[in-house]
Formats: sequence, structure tokens, C-alpha cells
Amino acid sequence: EKGGYDHFMLKEIAEQPKAVADTLLGRIGAGGLLELDEVRIAESVLREVDKVVVVACGTAFHAGMIAKYAVERWARVPCEVELASEFRYRDPILGARTLVVAISQSGETMDTLMALRHARERGAKVLAVCNTNGSTIPRESDAVLYTHAGPEVAVASTKAFLTQLVACYVVALYLGQVRGSVGEGEVRGVVRELAGIPEALEGVLATMEPVRELARSLAGQDTVLFLGRHVGYPVALEGALKLKELAYMHAEGFAAGELKHGPIALVEEGVPVVVVVPSVREQAVLHGKVVSNIQEVRARGARTVVIAEEGDETVVPYADRLIRVPRTSTLLQPLVTTVPLQVFACELATARGNEVDQPRNLAKSVTVE
Ligand code: F6R
Repeated sequence: EKGGYDHFMLKEIAEQPKAVADTLLGRIGAGGLLELDEVRIAESVLREVDKVVVVACGTAFHAGMIAKYAVERWARVPCEVELASEFRYRDPILGARTLVVAISQSGETMDTLMALRHARERGAKVLAVCNTNGSTIPRESDAVLYTHAGPEVAVASTKAFLTQLVACYVVALYLGQVRGSVGEGEVRGVVRELAGIPEALEGVLATMEPVRELARSLAGQDTVLFLGRHVGYPVALEGALKLKELAYMHAEGFAAGELKHGPIALVEEGVPVVVVVPSVREQAVLHGKVVSNIQEVRARGARTVVIAEEGDETVVPYADRLIRVPRTSTLLQPLVTTVPLQVFACELATARGNEVDQPRNLAKSVTVE
């Protein structure tokens, strides 16, 4: 049932183009706009929403961090993202105009469930983004947008994460469409780009051999650092989480802008630093700053592993290893930059002799608080 792959995780990484396509299926109308009849929250309610709060754990929380950029950009509504395990313990300010988005692959994560119960008790509307039909979290929510990743068996989340991102983009864009904060032309443009992502992912998957080879060459390292900015920051956190859980290595993700505020002290001779580079066309200013960060860590002995879009030549002189990803718009970039990090962690775990699908101490769904 691993379909010829050594591990479920490899199979699930390879299934990502289909998972993304399936998650879009039936949600795009004939006119190229979003149609989410399945979302049982009335458009009139969505128009009145004055705050979006995303709650989730682990990898799903990283999807939520990325959702914030999309919600604020397209829906023009303030958006907070909080670890579900922290949420209800600070008596959050919630009301009838708060839309809480609870993201969970399994639909059974206890912290996320408790957070959504807390939100509903205080009158907020809850929309679940979930991969498991009929599980507890969607059953207890006002509405649900299912991700169609199919069953995810490996403990480390891969295809579920990508489909959570797609679902978050769809929710953010739909909110914008309903509220009129994003023009129909832009909605159609984003929808078209989303529809092209499966093909882009096939391209990424076809070029992963150098990433595997790189991972094997780093199997003896103690520490790997990850840097990113804007939507690349949650991607850096996700890359580090994957490496911790699978390779049992010390891995940390940082916002690249924070480097000088502490983390750069960790850089010493030979430490691999993986950098997710923003789009050079759309984010020239941030791009320049991140390229400076690459130079700074390299000057202190780091081995730089640079993930940059095709055609970005400015990074070439500072990259000890360069991983190319297809060009996308800024907000959608995590869909392509995450994949090499999944492959990297999976291969490093294998090289270190770890059990890829069943990492020590971890369970697929955490049903206790
Ligand atoms: C990491 C991972 C976990 C889950 C987290 C939430 O690879 O899989 O961090 O993302 O336990 O699980 P769900 O999405 O089922 O609520």
C-alpha cells in the first residue's frame, strides 16, 4: 500500500500535486470565481466579520501563519493566529463578528477542539479546515471546508499541509470576493494560478535528487538553521519542525530580520543555514535584505542552502547549494518552497537510520491536551 515507495511519507510527498488539485475541485465556478456553497456561513455574516482568528497546532499552525498574510491581503480583515494550546488560556476577545478558523488534518486534536469550543461558547463563528470526514472538529464547527489530501499515514504532515494552505487561500480569497475587497479580475487571476500549482509541483518533485544528495551529505551535522521572511518565515519554521521530528536534529527557524537580534550568534564554521528567498520581482526590498542575510551568515562560516525562484541570479554568488523553485506570486510561494524541505527532512532521517513514518515519541493525532 506504499505504492512502491519505501515510506508512506515519500508516497504522500509525491501525491501533493493531486492533493492540491483535488482540494480545488468543485470550488471554482464557471466564471472563474470561487463557489463555496458548502460553506454554511451566510454571506451576510461573512460580510460583517471584523476579525479572523486562526487556531491550530504544529504544522497546521504554520499553515495558519501563512493564512494571515492571505486574509489580510485579500479580505482586508485583521487576522490573528494562535497556537490552539495557548488560545483559551488568555480569555481572548471574541464576539459574533469573529470568524475563527480551526485547522486540523485529523479533526481530533484536543487543543484545537477545546479552542473552538471556547470560541463558540463566546458567540464566535467557527469554520473548520479539516482532512478527515466526520471527525470531531468539523462536527462541532459551524462550517467546514474539507481538504481533499486523502488519508495521511506518515506521522509527519506533508500533503495535508499543502492542502491546508490551499484551503486557507480559498477561504481568504472567498472572504475578499464576498466582501468586495478584492476585484473579480484579481480573484480570477489567483484562482488560475492555484489551478496551475499541481503542474508546478510536478516540476519541483522532478528536481529533488540534488536535495536528497545534499541531505545525505549533512547527516552528520548537529544543527541546521532555517531563515525566511514574510510568508517564507512560516516555511522556515515548518522546515525546522520537519527536521526535528524526523531527523531528531537541532533545527530552528527564524525570521531573517531577527538574525542580528540574537540568532546570528549560533552561526559558526560549517553550520548549514537554509534560506527561503522572497520573489525578486514582487518583493524587491525584502529580497535585497534576505540576500544580505545570506552574505552575513556565509561570512561567518555558514554553508548556505538557498531556495530561490527560477531566474533569480542575484543569489548565485552566495549559495553553496542552490535549490530552484518555479516562480509564483508571493502569497502562493510556500506551496512550492515547502516541498524541498519535506524531501530534505525525509532523506536526512533515512540517512540517520530513523523510522521515517513513525518518529519516536510522536503520535499521528494528539487527542490529549
Ligand atoms: C507535524 C505534524 C503535527 C500536526 C499537529 C496538528 O508534521 O504532523 O505538528 O500538524 O499535531 O495535527 P492536526 O492537523 O491533526 O490537528
